[in-house]
Amino acid sequence: MKIKIVTKFCKPEMESTEVLMLGLFEDTKKIPVELTACNKATGELISHLLNNRDFRGKLNETMLIPTYHKISPKRILLVGLGKSESFTLDKIRQAYGTASRVIQSKQLCSFSIFPGTYSDVSMEDTVRSIVEGVLLSLYNFTIYKNLKKEEKSDVQSFSLLIADKTILGKVKTTAKSAQTIAEAVCFTRDIVNMSGSDATPTFLANKAREIAKKSDIKCTILSKPDLKRIGMGGILSVSRGSLEEPKFIILEYKTSKKGSDTVAIIGKGVTFDSGGICLKPGKDMDLMKGDMSGGAAILGTFMAISHLKPSVNIVGLIPCTENMLNDAALKPGDIIKCLSGKTVEVINTDAEGRLILADALSYAKKYKPDAVIDIATLTGSCVVALGTFASGMFGNNDVLKERIRKASETCYERVWELPIWEEYHELIKSCIADIKNVGGRFAGSITAACFLQKFVEDFPWVHLDIAGTFYAEKDTPYIRRGATGVGVRLLIQLLQNWKTLSDAGEKNKK
Ligand code: BES
Ligand code: MN
Ligand code: ZN
Repeated sequence: MKIKIVTKFCKPEMESTEVLMLGLFEDTKKIPVELTACNKATGELISHLLNNRDFRGKLNETMLIPTYHKISPKRILLVGLGKSESFTLDKIRQAYGTASRVIQSKQLCSFSIFPGTYSDVSMEDTVRSIVEGVLLSLYNFTIYKNLKKEEKSDVQSFSLLIADKTILGKVKTTAKSAQTIAEAVCFTRDIVNMSGSDATPTFLANKAREIAKKSDIKCTILSKPDLKRIGMGGILSVSRGSLEEPKFIILEYKTSKKGSDTVAIIGKGVTFDSGGICLKPGKDMDLMKGDMSGGAAILGTFMAISHLKPSVNIVGLIPCTENMLNDAALKPGDIIKCLSGKTVEVINTDAEGRLILADALSYAKKYKPDAVIDIATLTGSCVVALGTFASGMFGNNDVLKERIRKASETCYERVWELPIWEEYHELIKSCIADIKNVGGRFAGSITAACFLQKFVEDFPWVHLDIAGTFYAEKDTPYIRRGATGVGVRLLIQLLQNWKTLSDAGEKNKK
């Protein structure tokens, strides 16, 4: 997608374009000054529509109007922003996402947006949200489809009309970085949506190598002999039942800024979770090709990092394996030894994510991290607890949690904290090993987090359970049915603002 930033006229009525997109509030009484010329030239079209309540400006309401050569744009596409008093940046994403889909469904190939100016919102924030909304909403997963020409999306470019010349440079940088981030999200969505039989551990490892090759990121792949040598009993046990080779992906980004923190980000990379010997029921098992969504989010994050170059050192760890069942498979009742040396009684082979994450958490220690964040489609019970609008957050450090909360509010990939109190730890005690891998019927997402905490050494740590957020059952304004790419925007928002967010965290702690 080509994004052009235009300042020449700053008069939207003079822009030659297929469609001019305009956002309007629900309670618009007076046409905004920037649009008065546009309104006049069209015979007060916009004010008529508003006065007659043919267009109300309700959030995500759209109306496409031909202009019959009265002004340069061939059409106007009005989009509602909802009530001005409840305005948020996410409503911009939604409204422009919805409007972009209208453009796509009409098979128009280009359009122009004249962003409004909103009190308390910088033009940069507005532009960032518009670009995200447009690019994320136009995503379509077509890798496996034989499409006829007329079924293909033709949107190739759009222009942003910026009135204030002095902010041009800033707006360009903002649009570029928003595009980088949106494309990283779409990359993550693609690999999550792919067949489990195609997006194997080896495939993910190759993707990691590709990302690293194009930049100064270092990539190391540990294969089965390496895992054996190092003693990664968690990932090796889970992979026993599968013909696919497990891979442990390591990505390392170093900032040129001296004395910067090191953050380790870990993603669950189960490329298909059948449940193993504790086989899952058939219904919805297809979704388990997405059980590598955490790992895919790490790959997407690194793809963006390679362009954005944040001022913090970042280590990415992705344990990748299938969870399958054959004669060699891990059995319920088996006792395994993880990298840390701790032994685990495997009560349920379907609680495999925590076994591979345990090894990754232990491995993270070698980088002396200032923070470790893991992201995983870990438990069905997190979906029961929080539904699909928030990821579960667990952690041992208030400053880190506050940083993540702040970042999540900005990008609107929301998180909600759940407790990991001592009482919950009691539930995963084992009589014959150091710990067992399930904690019974209650509080499943919490006992899973408690399990992970047993492998956390003395570093600040947060676990994000994305079981409810990795997948969307239906289209929403800027997320299409299927993989959401959750985690990418959150991690980038966090890492790009690592220092600033730390001050916020420190302040709230006191
Ligand atoms: N990958 C699943 C969790 C999951 C379920 C993710 C639904 C997304 C949607 C995980 O490996 C799993 O199977 N967890 C079990 C744990 C149980 C056996 C203790 C679960 O949540 O049922
Ligand atoms: Mn499972
Ligand atoms: Zn799983």
